[in-house]
Amino acid sequence: QNERESLFITLNFAKDHFVENLWEVEEGKNIGLTYFKERGFSEETIKSFELGYALDQWQGLMDAAAKNGYNEEFLEKAGLKIVKEDKAYDRFRGRVTFPIHNVTGKVIAFGARTLKSNEKGPKYINSPETELYTKSKILYGIYQAKNEIRNTSNCYLVEGYTDVISLYQAGIKNVVASSGTSLTEDQIKLIKRYSENVTALFDGDKAGIKASMRGIDMMLAGGLNVKAVRFPEGEDPDSYSRQLGGTAFKEYLDDHSQDFMSFKTDFYTSESNDPIKRAESIREIVQSISLIPDPIKRSVYTQQCSNMLGIDEGTLIVELNKLLIKENKSKY
Ligand code: CTP
Ligand code: MN
Ligand code: MN
Ligand code: MN
Ligand code: MN
Repeated sequence: QNERESLFITLNFAKDHFVENLWEVEEGKNIGLTYFKERGFSEETIKSFELGYALDQWQGLMDAAAKNGYNEEFLEKAGLKIVKEDKAYDRFRGRVTFPIHNVTGKVIAFGARTLKSNEKGPKYINSPETELYTKSKILYGIYQAKNEIRNTSNCYLVEGYTDVISLYQAGIKNVVASSGTSLTEDQIKLIKRYSENVTALFDGDKAGIKASMRGIDMMLAGGLNVKAVRFPEGEDPDSYSRQLGGTAFKEYLDDHSQDFMSFKTDFYTSESNDPIKRAESIREIVQSISLIPDPIKRSVYTQQCSNMLGIDEGTLIVELNKLLIKENKSKY
């Protein structure tokens, strides 16, 4: 427990150091702060999320930590320092930093984005798993979003750090990110602490749509009520909210939030009118319905599916029951 406390203190120091680089150091101001401002983030937003900048040096953070009496051992255990053979250096260098907070607002990890558009390496580098940070258990933005999620009884779920930040700035504060990985049961439980309703806003690319189909099923199985919004090809919530502006973007969300059923139906049936493909898509939707734990909701959706797709309800129920038996659920 004592070690955990030391890790929290070390991570908080790193966060303060990166924030200071961004606002006080020439390199940070010229490169990092300029970058955020060019992305349209206001100073207030940058401060709310405690965004920062890691200097383009091998040991910028290590030196600052040593000067302030921090133990090197904790830098490594906090995921901030890399030790390879006889060399030791900072994990985050020459990147803007996004601290990842736990629900109580303590920094437990970082994501860091490159500023080079032609960089060969990864766009984002993230902290490794540590004693404090388990990637699959946290959602980016949960600390800033939790009260608003409770107040609005809805949680917007996005893919990336910048999606959270742009929506927050646009006045949509009930937003968290899965940070690019596929959603986990623990993350779904975390959302459920604050609301049973989720609206998924995935990127409008192939990867995003694929992730949304799987994410929706996970959330249904977790007992959440799921809506989803589609974005134009190539847009993500960050880019699209900046393109439309806050007010129009909110209207877009209200107009395009679809119940998971219509979202999936639109997706599959827009693919083709071929009867075989249609049958496959109906099977996909019945499969999703079978995941819902509440039998009354299952029944309502089965009826809706029958109406929307013009399929005999009895036929759907037979298929549904086969799946329910496999999943050890009570039958229709
Ligand atoms: N991600 C990551 N490592 C990568 C790429 C992505 O950890 N190499 C995570 C980040 O959390 C990122 C999210 O996946 O925010 C979504 O990825 P992507 O859509 O590619 O990035 P954006 O968030 O849209 O970032 P940007 O707008 O800055 O390009
Ligand atoms: Mn955690
Ligand atoms: Mn993406
Ligand atoms: Mn994106
Ligand atoms: Mn983006």
